[in-house]
Amino acid sequence: MNELMKGALPNIVAAIGHTPIVKLHTVARHVKASIYVKCEYLNPGGSMKDRVALNIIQDGERRGLLKPGSTIIEATSGNTGAGLALVGAIRGYKSIFVMPDKMAAEKIASLRAFGAKVVVCPTAVEPEDPRSYYMTAKRLVAETPDSFYANQYHNPANPEAHYVSTAPEIWEQTGGEIDTFVAGMGTGGTISGCGKYFKEKKPGFKVVGVDPIGSLYYEYVKTGRLTKPFSYAVEGIGEDFLPSTMNLKIIDEIVRVDDKECFLMTRELTRVEGLYVGGSCGAAVAGAIKYAEATGRKENILVLLPDSASKYLSKIFNDEWMRQNGFLDQEDPLGTVAHMLRARPEREVISAKRGMTIRAVINLLKQHEISQAPVMSDDGRLDGIVSESDLLKHLLSSDARIDGPIDPLVEADYATVTPDTKVALLRSIFNDAKLVVVKDKADDLIGLITKIDLIEYLAARRS
Ligand SMILES: Cc1ncc(COP(=O)(O)O)c(C=O)c1O
Repeated sequence: MNELMKGALPNIVAAIGHTPIVKLHTVARHVKASIYVKCEYLNPGGSMKDRVALNIIQDGERRGLLKPGSTIIEATSGNTGAGLALVGAIRGYKSIFVMPDKMAAEKIASLRAFGAKVVVCPTAVEPEDPRSYYMTAKRLVAETPDSFYANQYHNPANPEAHYVSTAPEIWEQTGGEIDTFVAGMGTGGTISGCGKYFKEKKPGFKVVGVDPIGSLYYEYVKTGRLTKPFSYAVEGIGEDFLPSTMNLKIIDEIVRVDDKECFLMTRELTRVEGLYVGGSCGAAVAGAIKYAEATGRKENILVLLPDSASKYLSKIFNDEWMRQNGFLDQEDPLGTVAHMLRARPEREVISAKRGMTIRAVINLLKQHEISQAPVMSDDGRLDGIVSESDLLKHLLSSDARIDGPIDPLVEADYATVTPDTKVALLRSIFNDAKLVVVKDKADDLIGLITKIDLIEYLAARRS
């Protein structure tokens, strides 16, 4: 019998989408804006990536790249995998997923539950390293017959899914009454696809991205520089490279959040609002509240909630894990960057300017006995850094010109933090970055921290 009983859907794929929009009733009471959330975590595979998976598979089938018996391969932090496995199960595809090892154990288990094969790779390697999860996925694609690489970081069908599905659904549900859309930034699919749709619909519509501290988006949007990323715990958002699915031009404002505020807000959303959501939802709501506090505007803000709490029970919702990682403690024993800046003698930030000669910069470093300096643009914004080691490399090269401008030597070997960043985190940041730049909420430079500053601060606490 091929008939469909009244009230039933033909299969679970037809249940993707149609998620509710709910007003936050407690956590954002203090802001003038009304903040609404789109509950994408209620999708059948547990996240908004169900829509992406469906669109990528349909697109692959249309283009003849996916045929019966094909194996879908993807580098995924879990949600896209769940979506692909779910849609693949209905359509008869096998799947192999590659994941970084920082991911919650529940994510790996849930993919295996769908019958997928999961390969776990180290997080702490460069994206180009053969062990990285991007490179491992590429290798598996080359080795597996009839494979189809979903490639969510570079597949236009990812942002398109949000343009044809998520955004029109939101527009219809709200009758176009939203003014601002807020979303976390991972592959950029959500923000680029939804942002494009909303901006086409309403002049003056604002798109706000939320980026975890440690990711490179924030500094890139603000300065155009690809600075040193460093690791953070919130999953699904932030990147250490620029995916082609991310359209940064669509973004009007970008807000930074740290792990602790993401996780505390996630717990609050579940406890107080009854929203059973994951860490990037806490990030997006915390970012939306910061944005609303900063603008003070009365408007309707819609925040997309990507996935559910079920994948984070052993982490964000586990007090022991939260405490071990310093997310529950009121005071971190080593304090924050603000403590550190306060503890050292007041000193001027010595900076170079674009256009200065290499000779003048060498004199500046010598005069102030410093090994690196920030370089400021004409409008007073941080443009990069210049360091002893870059000067040395330049002077040793055959075409070294000492009276030429410093500009080609300006590098992005710095990491940006806020005054609330924990000092304990600086140690790992200095593995990659030469200098730590401290910026406040208004994005103004308030201090610089070098390795020796950190050593002095830690030594003083021991004496
Ligand atoms: C939990 C979670 N939140 C947010 C995102 C970011 O969404 P997008 O990739 O569309 O930028 C992802 C993407 O992987 C995710 O898994």
